[in-house]
Amino acid sequence: MKQKKILYAGKAKSVYRTDEKGRLIVEFRDDITAFDGGKKDVLKNKGSYNAGVSAFFFAYLAKNGVRTHFIEMLDAHRMVVRELAMIPLEVIVRNIAAGSIVRNYPFKEGTKLDPPVIVIDYKDDSRHDPMLNDELIVALKIATPQELRKIKAAALKVNALLVKLLAKQGITLVDFKIEFGRENKTIYLGDEISMDSMRLWDRKTGESLDKDVYRFNKGDVMDTYDRVAKRITKTAKKP
Ligand code: C5P
Repeated sequence: MKQKKILYAGKAKSVYRTDEKGRLIVEFRDDITAFDGGKKDVLKNKGSYNAGVSAFFFAYLAKNGVRTHFIEMLDAHRMVVRELAMIPLEVIVRNIAAGSIVRNYPFKEGTKLDPPVIVIDYKDDSRHDPMLNDELIVALKIATPQELRKIKAAALKVNALLVKLLAKQGITLVDFKIEFGRENKTIYLGDEISMDSMRLWDRKTGESLDKDVYRFNKGDVMDTYDRVAKRITKTAKKP
C-alpha cells in the first residue's frame, strides 16, 4: 500500500489517502497536547505507544462484535483504516467521577457512577467542544435519533469490554472518549483509544496511567506510557 497526499492533520494524528479505495492511513505523531492545545510537546516515540494500544483495543473490540475502522498496522506509528465520514461528536463514557465532570458538577472525585454516564460533546475546537444533548444533536442534523441510539449502545458495549480487559491488569477504567463515523449508512468506531483519550488508574495505588500525568505534571509521561502499554497488551497473551 502506498501513502498518498495528506487529508487532515489534527493535534496528534495525521490522516493520508492511499492508493487503495476506501482505505486511509492514520499516522500517530509524537506530538502531545492538553488544554485545547494550550500545552504542547513532542515526545520521542509517544505516537507508537498510542498506535500500539489503539490497535490492540480495536482488534479486541472487533473480536467481540464491535465494528471498528481498524484494518492493520503498517509500522509502529501508522495504521491502515477504513475510510469513514466522521461524525463530529466526542462520546465520553464515565465510570468514576474525575476531570471536567468534577469541575463542572457537584461530584466528588472518585465517586463511582453506576450506571456509567455518557456525555456527548460537539467536536469543535473553536467552540471549545460544548456539551450537547440528544435534541441538539438531532436539531443540528449530526445524527438521527436511531443513529444516536446505536452510538450510545456501542459506547456502553465498548465500555463494558474495556472495563473487563483492563481489570485483568489491575487497571480501573475511569473514563474515555471515542468517536464514530459512517461508511454508507453503517456506523463504525473510528479515531483512537489510547492513553491520550482515557483516564486509567492503578487499582491498588490510584496512580494515574494516562495523559493526566502530562496535563498535571504528575511524573514522566513517557515512562508511564511505556509501563501501561506493556501492562495492557500483556493481557493479550493470557488465555
Ligand atoms: O476532560 P474530561 O474530564 O471531560 O475528559 C473525559 C475523558 O475524555 C478523558 O479520558 C479525556 O482524556 C478524554 N477526552 C479526550 N479528548 C477530548 C476531551 C476529553 O480524549 N477532547
